[in-house]
Amino acid sequence: MTAAKFKNFPNQIEALGIDLVTTQSKAIVAKGVEMEFKSQKRCFQILKGIDLAIPKGNIQLLMGPSGSGKTTLLSILAGLMTPTRGKVSLLGEDITSMSRQKLAKFRQQNIGFIFQNFNLFPALTASENIEVALNIQGINRKAAKDQVQVLLEQVGLENQSEQKPSDLSGGQKQRVAIARALAGSPQLIMADEPTAALDSKSGHSVIQLLRSLAKEQGCTVLMVTHDPRIIDVADSVTYLEDGTLKE
Ligand SMILES: Nc1ncnc2c1ncn2[C@@H]1O[C@H](COP(=O)(O)OP(=O)(O)O)[C@@H](O)[C@H]1O
Ligand SMILES: [Mg+2]
Repeated sequence: MTAAKFKNFPNQIEALGIDLVTTQSKAIVAKGVEMEFKSQKRCFQILKGIDLAIPKGNIQLLMGPSGSGKTTLLSILAGLMTPTRGKVSLLGEDITSMSRQKLAKFRQQNIGFIFQNFNLFPALTASENIEVALNIQGINRKAAKDQVQVLLEQVGLENQSEQKPSDLSGGQKQRVAIARALAGSPQLIMADEPTAALDSKSGHSVIQLLRSLAKEQGCTVLMVTHDPRIIDVADSVTYLEDGTLKE
């Protein structure tokens, strides 16, 4: 009798639009996300109703063939692109209804980004590349300098702090990018093919490092990759194919 009474409880909550369980325990939630690109007279539907819920502290891989829409989905989940339809919540906040200004601030405070081509400022040293990220977040100069030292040590680059990106190897550049992404202790890390430009050995060690630092700090990581060697660092893997997700 009691069991029967509660059987429909989650449905009732959902019907009321109060998604308490999901909101509190999940870092990233997508519901019915669709994305269309229009070019001249044609319309391409890249994402066709994506539902996703990533628990806090998880390392989630997003895999799939080239051109399947992984970067598009990551950009939507990170609030860099607005979906044609659907909703995205990050850390319990609906980002699809936020103003541009509020969203920009939310990203600065909560999301660290890592890209395939590192995206470091070529004219700045390793320390300065990390310091800039802290300055943008409004952390004062002295505190930022101290944090940069800690971050450089965490990624094993304390002896390369004054070197520019052109003096660093690919793996070292990606370590600087990881330090920069972790600057300010964001709760979310979004990485788009972070090992694509690295050889397999340095790729693997960079990802192991990212995993251990993320776990230490309790970050949730969403990582796009088509590198099957990375699967062992993930808590969960999802595949994007024909615009939909498959476990
Ligand atoms: N801004 C855009 N305008 C039009 N088409 C786009 C745009 N961005 C991506 N696409 C198209 O969407 C598809 C998926 O792209 P993308 O998300 O980059 O895939 P992936 O990262 O999986 O390789 C591709 O066919 C691409 O050409
Ligand atoms: Mg891509």
